[in-house]
Amino acid sequence: MSDIAIKVENLGKLYRLGEIGTGTLGQDLSRWWARTRGKEDPFATIGETNDRTKKGGSNYVWSLKDVNFEVKQGEVLGIIGRNGAGKSTLLKILSKVTGPSRGSIKINGRIASLLEVGTGFHPELTGRENVFLNGAILGMNKAEIQSKFDEIVDFSGVERYIDTPVKRYSSGMYVRLAFAVAAFLEPEILIVDEVLAVGDAEFQKKCLGRMKDVSRNDGRTILFVSHSMPALKNICTTGILMETGKVSFSGSADEVIDYYITNFLSFNTDTRIKITDKNREYDLLRQIEYDSIEFVNPVEKNMYSTEDDIAILITLKSKIDREDFRIAFSIFKMDESAVGTFFSQETLSIRKGETKDFVITLKDHQLAKGQYYLDFSVGIGNELIGATEYDVVTKTLFFEIAYKDTSKTQMMVLWHSGWGAVNFHNVDIKAI
Ligand SMILES: Nc1ncnc2c1ncn2[C@@H]1O[C@H](COP(=O)(O)OP(=O)(O)OP(=O)(O)O)[C@@H](O)[C@H]1O
Ligand SMILES: [Mg+2]
Repeated sequence: MSDIAIKVENLGKLYRLGEIGTGTLGQDLSRWWARTRGKEDPFATIGETNDRTKKGGSNYVWSLKDVNFEVKQGEVLGIIGRNGAGKSTLLKILSKVTGPSRGSIKINGRIASLLEVGTGFHPELTGRENVFLNGAILGMNKAEIQSKFDEIVDFSGVERYIDTPVKRYSSGMYVRLAFAVAAFLEPEILIVDEVLAVGDAEFQKKCLGRMKDVSRNDGRTILFVSHSMPALKNICTTGILMETGKVSFSGSADEVIDYYITNFLSFNTDTRIKITDKNREYDLLRQIEYDSIEFVNPVEKNMYSTEDDIAILITLKSKIDREDFRIAFSIFKMDESAVGTFFSQETLSIRKGETKDFVITLKDHQLAKGQYYLDFSVGIGNELIGATEYDVVTKTLFFEIAYKDTSKTQMMVLWHSGWGAVNFHNVDIKAI
């Protein structure tokens, strides 16, 4: 097991839903009795899988069931899955915050974990005291911790509050310090649940950079749960996909991410969208705002070929007179990585109280086969003179680029060839 950092075998975790506590004294007793005789928990047999979308008949739920996997030393394992799939439960068991109901885990090395906000730190103790407490838990002596202390405080950026009890920290500050502690106290295994999402964008970037350093330079093992595909792609080497408490797919990080994107992320096939606040991540003044966005010329529902122009009809509403605004839009892949941003070349105009249509035509798009979505913004200015955004809308329309239907091309060519007018050397006929 020398190069294995973590080995998980037949791991199961049974939770009882509803009130805290095991229920009745009778249930507790029969459980205890079964346990003392080395028998299986009698309620374990009635537990159901944790599909949160279905109403179950039993109060017991298998948060994890028959989970098996290994993590090699130096591996950066990404854990993906929908809400309620069991990811945090797994990390909690590995971090010994809660015990398994079944199965075994073997861990080779000291673990530092960053779980949900609220675990790991003692609320009444100050930031400084918590750093030392955590170091002690990791088996470090005072001098060792002291030698890392400045680095930790510096990275966290909460110096001013280091002697304040952490219960007075904002959740972002809390995560900043907790991450710095976990990442700088040199654990052999670093476990990070998606808490990073609480920090601001700049800090998230810093954390991802640090995690990369910790794995590449120091050869540490990392387990990382995240819903952000770019973040996972950036740092993970391998991945597992969890579905209703089980590992349903595993492989290289890229394989698992691609599998998840194709099979789980919602790709809506509307060709027209009426913009609502669900599309708005930023709270802008919206002097000019998006009303609706529509594909005008799809080959089929949301499908374009590699050669078609993409035309989009945009309807804007305005509360102001403006002669000099621009529309911009960005194309993203389903893993949220940006493909490109386009601006209207000419400035546009709209009058106060007006609802006005605009058509964007994307010519010669050169997009590869795959699925994409569009974000839009409207504003004035540019990168050089500084910009004001009136409205930004995200994840509006989804579309797919497919290869041009070569069976049709072929038929056309054959028909033309009857006239002896087509030069076959210029015709590219690909299999689909
Ligand atoms: N303390 C608990 N008591 C009862 N059920 C629990 C408890 N903790 C988790 N569960 C259940 O276990 C299942 C898995 O939860 P878990 O928090 O591991 O999911 P997750 O994959 O981390 O989801 P998310 O992406 O939302 O963080 C859920 O059905 C949840 O309701
Ligand atoms: Mg979770």
